[in-house]
Amino acid sequence: MKDIKTLEVSGKRVLVRVDYNVPLSEGQVTDDTRIRASLPTLRWLREKEARVILCSHLGRPKGQRVPEMSLRPVAERLAELLGTPVKFVEDCIGEAVEKEVQALQQGEVLLLENLRFHKGETKNDPEFAEALARLAEVYVNDAFSVSHRAHASVVGVPQRLKEKAAGFQLKREVDYLSRALESPERPLVAVAGGAKISGKIEVLNNLLSRVDKLLIGGAMANTFLASQGLSLGRSLVEETELETAREILLAARERGVKVYLPVDLVVAESQEEEGEEVPVNRVPESKAAYDIGEETVALFTRALSRAGTILWNGPLGLFEKPAFAKGTVAVARAIAAENALTLAGGGDTLAAIKAAGVTHAFSYLSTGGGAFLEFLAGKELPGLKALE
Ligand code: 3PG
Repeated sequence: MKDIKTLEVSGKRVLVRVDYNVPLSEGQVTDDTRIRASLPTLRWLREKEARVILCSHLGRPKGQRVPEMSLRPVAERLAELLGTPVKFVEDCIGEAVEKEVQALQQGEVLLLENLRFHKGETKNDPEFAEALARLAEVYVNDAFSVSHRAHASVVGVPQRLKEKAAGFQLKREVDYLSRALESPERPLVAVAGGAKISGKIEVLNNLLSRVDKLLIGGAMANTFLASQGLSLGRSLVEETELETAREILLAARERGVKVYLPVDLVVAESQEEEGEEVPVNRVPESKAAYDIGEETVALFTRALSRAGTILWNGPLGLFEKPAFAKGTVAVARAIAAENALTLAGGGDTLAAIKAAGVTHAFSYLSTGGGAFLEFLAGKELPGLKALE
C-alpha cells in the first residue's frame, strides 16, 4: 500500500473515501469519532493545496434517497472540526457534482451526498464507479472500517485511478492490527465475547493459529460450556454450533493454546431482575446467564496479567443493563491496566470500554466493526487490495 506522503497532490482533485457512517439524532451528529479520525489526512491534503473531494456512505438506504440519511449534518460538523467551510453537494455523481468539483479551489473541501443513494455503489457498478472516478485525478482511501466492502468507492474507483494511496487513518489502523497479529509482543492474548459463535468461527480459528491464550465470555461462552456437557438452563446456547465449539476447543488443545471459559455466571429469570452468581455447573433450569461471575473475572485477570499484546472483541455479558455490566467493565479495566499493546474493536466493545471509563488507556481502538472482524479472521480486505 502506498503512503499518502508519496503523492504529488498540489492543485490536483483528490477523491477521499472516508467513513462518515456516524450516528445522527435530529439532524445532529451524536458521535464524531469517525469524522475526527479523518482529520489528519484532510489537514495534510489542504496544506499541500489539493482540491479535496470527500465521499462516504451513511446507513443502508438501498439505492433510495432517504433524507434522514443525508450527509449534510456531517458537513457541518466537519467544518467545525476542521475550522474551515466544507462545501456540500446533493448528489455524488452527475453534472451538478462535476460543476461543483470544477469550481473547487486549492485547499477547499467538498463533501458529496451519500454514495448509497445510488444502487451502483454497493453493486460496484462499472458505470457508477466510472462516474465517481471521473471527478478526480488521485484517490485516497482513509476508511479502514469500510474496506471489507467490495463497493464502487472502495474498489471500483481505485481500479480506475492510477494515483492512489492509503490515508493516515487507514495506514495507522492497518499497522496496529498487523503488528498485533503478525509480529506481536508475546504472550498474545485474545478476549472473545458477544452473543454468537456462528458469526465468528473464522475469527476464532484464525486467532487460534496466532494467540497464546484465548479468553471466551458473553453468551458465546454458553455454547462452549454446553458443548462440554454442562446444562445452562434457559441461557442462550447455539445448539447448531455445539460441534463447532467442540472442534475449536480440540484445535486449541492440539495447538497448545490455553482456552479460558467462565467458571461462574450471573444468572436471572429475566433481564429485568438482579442476577445471582452461580458456578457454571449449577445454573438453575429456570434461569439464564447474563454475565460472567467474580471468580471468572479473577481468572481472566490472572490470564491477562503480563500479556505482551491483547486483542478484544465482544462484550462478556449483557453490559447495557447495569445488573449485568460488572464482568465486562472489570475485564475492560483489567486489559487497560496491563502494560501491553491493547487493541479492541466493534461497536459494542467500544461502548463497553467507554462505560468502563478506560477509552484512553487502550493503545488503539479500531474504527471498524465488520472490517475489524474480517481482519482478525485473516481475510484479505478488498479495499486494501485495491490500493496495491
Ligand atoms: C460500519 O459502520 O461498520 C461501516 O461503515 C460499514 O457499514 P456497512 O456494514 O453498512 O457496510
